[in-house]
Amino acid sequence: MNRSPRPVLIDTDTGVDDALALMLAFHSPELSVRAITTVAGNAPVDRCTRNVRGLLQVLHPATVPEVGRGASRPLRRALTTAPEVHGTDGLGGISATLPAARVPVVDGVDLILRMSQRYGRLLTIIALGPLTNLARALRRKPDVFRRVGRIVSMGGAFSVPGNTGPVAEFNVFVDPDAAAEVYGSGIPITIVPLDVTEQCRFTRDELRTLAPGRSPKISRLVLSLARGYMEYHRMTEGFVGGYLHDPLAVAVAAQPSLVRCEPSRVVVERDGHSLRGMTSKVGVRRSSVEVAVQVNRTRFRRLFHSRLLP
Ligand code: BDR
Ligand code: CA
Repeated sequence: MNRSPRPVLIDTDTGVDDALALMLAFHSPELSVRAITTVAGNAPVDRCTRNVRGLLQVLHPATVPEVGRGASRPLRRALTTAPEVHGTDGLGGISATLPAARVPVVDGVDLILRMSQRYGRLLTIIALGPLTNLARALRRKPDVFRRVGRIVSMGGAFSVPGNTGPVAEFNVFVDPDAAAEVYGSGIPITIVPLDVTEQCRFTRDELRTLAPGRSPKISRLVLSLARGYMEYHRMTEGFVGGYLHDPLAVAVAAQPSLVRCEPSRVVVERDGHSLRGMTSKVGVRRSSVEVAVQVNRTRFRRLFHSRLLP
């Protein structure tokens, strides 16, 4: 059965895995990316905005006429970035090689609200960074923002250790207040946490085998983007490759059956020095929030290969 693609807004703190996720989204026939907004996280927001605009100049998706520059800092605390993972430019040092950007920049929260108004429950928002922009949209016009159909959020760590300190996942750690507000908003949300994203990795060998013979433009971009990210994982995790956190969130938006989810009440630890950003969940029978607890790795890997290196 051929369904028409779902309108999607992607909110991103454009690091390396965000860039891979954007490429995957542009190559997913189930999704029609209508807008991209940026948020401070892996890198400062102006860097993230420059990264998205540069990537758009290479990838040319037909449906993204503008980029929304969002929040430059979390709701009520200083920004933490991740240069050790994504490089100081957020893209593993390759951003200077991207062509000069042409896509116009508008206000990020305005753009989120405009899309929410236009598409209502047809709209899926895929949130790949801290949830600051979404919390701001919710605060500014709750009646408009609450109309969105679903948010797919890469965030949280429930039964696995954190990746930013012992308990917190990066996106939630950076802005736990925003995460608490959005996860508690009553909007339908699918959380894609480290529990499942850390089961989905790519390796250097895989990229080297797949890249030749594929679209040279895309494979060159993927290989150069991934270099520093793979080195980081070699040093910290002991494998030459990288976790596909954000690409899994995009894949779940495209094909929800890739993961098994449990309806849950989610609690975010906002303060507490060593617990900041910790997420915990209680299973309930019905909830607006569901948490992915299991992923079909083989299917995801097949989808990632066939779409990212077409
Ligand atoms: C998340 O944090 C960021 O560094 C990645 O882009 C991903 O969104 C993983 O914890
Ligand atoms: Ca991200």
